[in-house]
Amino acid sequence: MKKLLFTLLGLAAALTLPAQDFKITHGPWLCDMTEDGVTVLWTTNKPALSWVEATEDDGRSFYAAEHTRHYETVAGRKQAHKTLHAVRLNNLRPGTKYCYRIFSQEVLEWKHGDNVLYGRTVASNVYKRAPFRFRTFPATGTDCSFVILNDIHGRADDMTELCREINFGKHDFVMLNGDMSNSIENEEQLFRDFIDASVNLYASETPILYNRGNHETRGVFADRLHDYFPTRSGRHYQLCKVGSVCFLLLDCGEDKPDTDIEYGGLADYDAYRREECEWLRRAVASETFRNASARVVFLHIPLDGGTWHGSNHLRNLFLPILNEAGINIMFSGHTHRYGFHPANDEVRFPVVVNGNQSYIRCDMTGDRIAIRIVGPGGRVAHTHEFPLR
Ligand SMILES: [Fe+2]
Repeated sequence: MKKLLFTLLGLAAALTLPAQDFKITHGPWLCDMTEDGVTVLWTTNKPALSWVEATEDDGRSFYAAEHTRHYETVAGRKQAHKTLHAVRLNNLRPGTKYCYRIFSQEVLEWKHGDNVLYGRTVASNVYKRAPFRFRTFPATGTDCSFVILNDIHGRADDMTELCREINFGKHDFVMLNGDMSNSIENEEQLFRDFIDASVNLYASETPILYNRGNHETRGVFADRLHDYFPTRSGRHYQLCKVGSVCFLLLDCGEDKPDTDIEYGGLADYDAYRREECEWLRRAVASETFRNASARVVFLHIPLDGGTWHGSNHLRNLFLPILNEAGINIMFSGHTHRYGFHPANDEVRFPVVVNGNQSYIRCDMTGDRIAIRIVGPGGRVAHTHEFPLR
């Protein structure tokens, strides 16, 4: 009897609970920026049809005119069953400032056919606060600046504190160079570990370039990471171009042998790195790469010839190609300690390793690369400068 009473009380409580309001829950953040496009991502608490309105930032109010709606489509069909929204803006002009607003319309019911019953529409605010803004990458030139963060391992508050002094609006992008999470177990953890903090700091207006570390290859949700930082190629490793500078984002895989007990029988990184190596060979031979005014590499695990398998495999595969590719500089992390390896006969380009308590600020101009490694309180711990030949 008592059990029945509790069940009835529970049912009554469930029926009287107010339905959760439809809302935008995280973001927006920008990624995969090019000279003519960018991808805008955010989440809602319920499935929705979502779109972005964007316009060149000519100083006029966002309300001055109607704007084109950009949707996430798959083979011609707008996506309406998702809570993670990723809208690609295409055909933008290089080096141009845009402002944008995100919209989501709740899908209340969708039982059969295309009989979708829509609910409320929510949007980012462009009245009480300014619309979000970004600038597309330039098509030419070497002038660019960026910030590198790595090995945050879910310490979002430390990252926020570390970045307090940075004026992100001055930078073309922020490179997350691996191990932002310890392992990836679910969506909420990704937000808690570093995405929400990145959105609060910069990511709605300054794009993220994401380069996976070995820790992001772990966890039950690890295979979904790419959905949160999509690339047009569908691959983690990629070649990005900002002006006439080329950036190689190399995916390191794991650091121990694939059969290590820690990987639960899931690791197949030897084959993956060999496949990536074939891509790298083609990437450095491409006209874009050969004609670049500077060539920068990001690789989470340094090629410092340590004794661990991952580092050695990366070195054996990638170094002969990179040594012949006119690389100006490589940025790594992983060791949680600052390190600097000048170019020598074995590794023919300088390697800067950022620790886990600092960020790197890199400013490139036509004739030099200037690097500052900045620790807590904005203290510049190390500087390096390299001429661009
Ligand atoms: Fe690492």
